Amino acid sequence: MQVSPSLLAANFTNLQREIDMINTSEADMLHLDVMDGVFVPNISFGFPVLNAVGRISTKPLDVHLMIVEPQKFVSQVRDCGASIMNVHQEACIHLDRTIHEIKEAGMKAAVTLNPSTPVGTLEDVIAELDMVLLMSVNPGFGGQKFIENTLTKVCRLKELISSSGSKARIEVDGGVNLSTGRMLAGAGADILVAGSFVFGSPTPHEAIRSLKAL
Ligand code: DX5
Ligand code: ZN
Repeated sequence: MQVSPSLLAANFTNLQREIDMINTSEADMLHLDVMDGVFVPNISFGFPVLNAVGRISTKPLDVHLMIVEPQKFVSQVRDCGASIMNVHQEACIHLDRTIHEIKEAGMKAAVTLNPSTPVGTLEDVIAELDMVLLMSVNPGFGGQKFIENTLTKVCRLKELISSSGSKARIEVDGGVNLSTGRMLAGAGADILVAGSFVFGSPTPHEAIRSLKAL
């Protein structure tokens, strides 16, 4: 299993120490949640923080944009050093165009689905995608309860990916801990995002290692 700890649950008064913890851990990526107070009912952080984190992180940046009109920010996300740019299907009118712009900018393209958005909506773009991010909570806040229906969605997405010959990997975000992570591993998830489970742990390296072992 791959693991992408979400910085949203970190101690923002000491980001250097939190990033050092991630850099020296077995994490595969670092997940960064950008919120605009419009697409989701909360505001997190923006480019000044992404740029600062990009300068000190040795892990690939997995940027999750919970904002309207994410296509306006492709080059700014690339310039902060992002490896993967996640845009919400619900926020993109011309999703196919946005996917191509992300790839042309040199990043991996990922599309995120809210819990209420069916997997089938990706049928016509799945072949183009490097990753699909399934939300297992309604986006906007850390520390929420895992929505069980996500397990069915992972299975459906897995079928769509194999029937279309896509190489997309499946990432899941929200309410991930050892027990939900184990169920997600069984359903076929490739990457787990974990905020509170990692940063809320007294032994975060061990928390990351335990998810990776699933
Ligand atoms: C929620 C964010 C998540 C969040 C996950 O809108 O997209 O990445 O940080 O937090 P936990 O793991 O605490 O549910
Ligand atoms: Zn996220």
